Amino acid sequence: MFAQACANIALIKYWGKRKAALNLPAVGSISLTLEALKTHTRVDFDTHLLHDILKINDQPASPEQQKRVSEFMDIVRSKAAIDQHARIDSHNNFPTAAGLASSASAFAALSVAASRAAGLTLSSEDLSRLARQGSGSAARSIYGGFVEMIRGIRNDGTDACARQIKPPDYWDLRVLIVVTSRQEKQTGSSAAMKRSAQTSPFYSQWIEHSENDLAEMRMAIADKNFEKLGELSEFNALKMHALMISSRPAVIYWNARTMDLIHFVSDLRRQAIPVYFTIDAGPQVKLISLPAYTKVLIEKLRDIPGLEDVIESSLGGDAMIEEREG
Ligand code: PMV
Repeated sequence: MFAQACANIALIKYWGKRKAALNLPAVGSISLTLEALKTHTRVDFDTHLLHDILKINDQPASPEQQKRVSEFMDIVRSKAAIDQHARIDSHNNFPTAAGLASSASAFAALSVAASRAAGLTLSSEDLSRLARQGSGSAARSIYGGFVEMIRGIRNDGTDACARQIKPPDYWDLRVLIVVTSRQEKQTGSSAAMKRSAQTSPFYSQWIEHSENDLAEMRMAIADKNFEKLGELSEFNALKMHALMISSRPAVIYWNARTMDLIHFVSDLRRQAIPVYFTIDAGPQVKLISLPAYTKVLIEKLRDIPGLEDVIESSLGGDAMIEEREG
């Protein structure tokens, strides 16, 4: 069984868990699904296998990745009441684990492919809840366009899933993914979130102000107010990085190019180019802009030394089964 899912970037970030065992988020989040960053995954259950076999981009997965995916497959097996193991082949068309949300597209594609291969027919909401258990941000990658992850209040997580706010063609936003480093990150997001929750003096304020940021972002999307959407994205991303930086010991995902790009974006706004940034748990910077400006932005990015890559993306669609011959 083949499936595909797009990565997403959060405009309002998820940072912190209310219950780690079920990956229940401490705050809701709002994201854009990215057409240009995709994971394609194939899942085949096989009675002869003694354990799951995972390959990522044709390479055997690390023991940690293998363990994380096998635990996820256990959830699928228990839902489907089967005990077979599976061969899983996953391909990303972008760097893995360097803050390009590869876990989001990976667990969304895996949820769709594995559940169908196991004989389950799940609704989008069920798929989102399942994907959430692999990676919090993956719950959003089940849907295309503008997506909100609902924090939920129940302990069993049944109310913690994403929903689509608007489809991809509602508003033609563009995202430039600026790759500043291809190195894998040192601290994974779950460990970093835990550290922020336990040690950052700003964590309680982060939680307290979250509903406010979500409400403002919903409004910016409803009004197609680009300046508001951009300003709020930067504010919320910098608040999240303030939590990381104020943790003990600090988690600093930025490199020197990340900082250069932050200044580059505000310089461009002074030149009347509508562009804003957001940054996830990694050194890459995502520029949010409008179709008429991507050409000039790409040209101007050429002046910044040391960048690895620039990927232009429009908004992507729902995660789905791919009809392919096995
Ligand atoms: O899905 P996770 O556990 O890798 O968490 C990702 C968290 C951020 O990307 C930093 C923010 C977000 O909302 O996507």
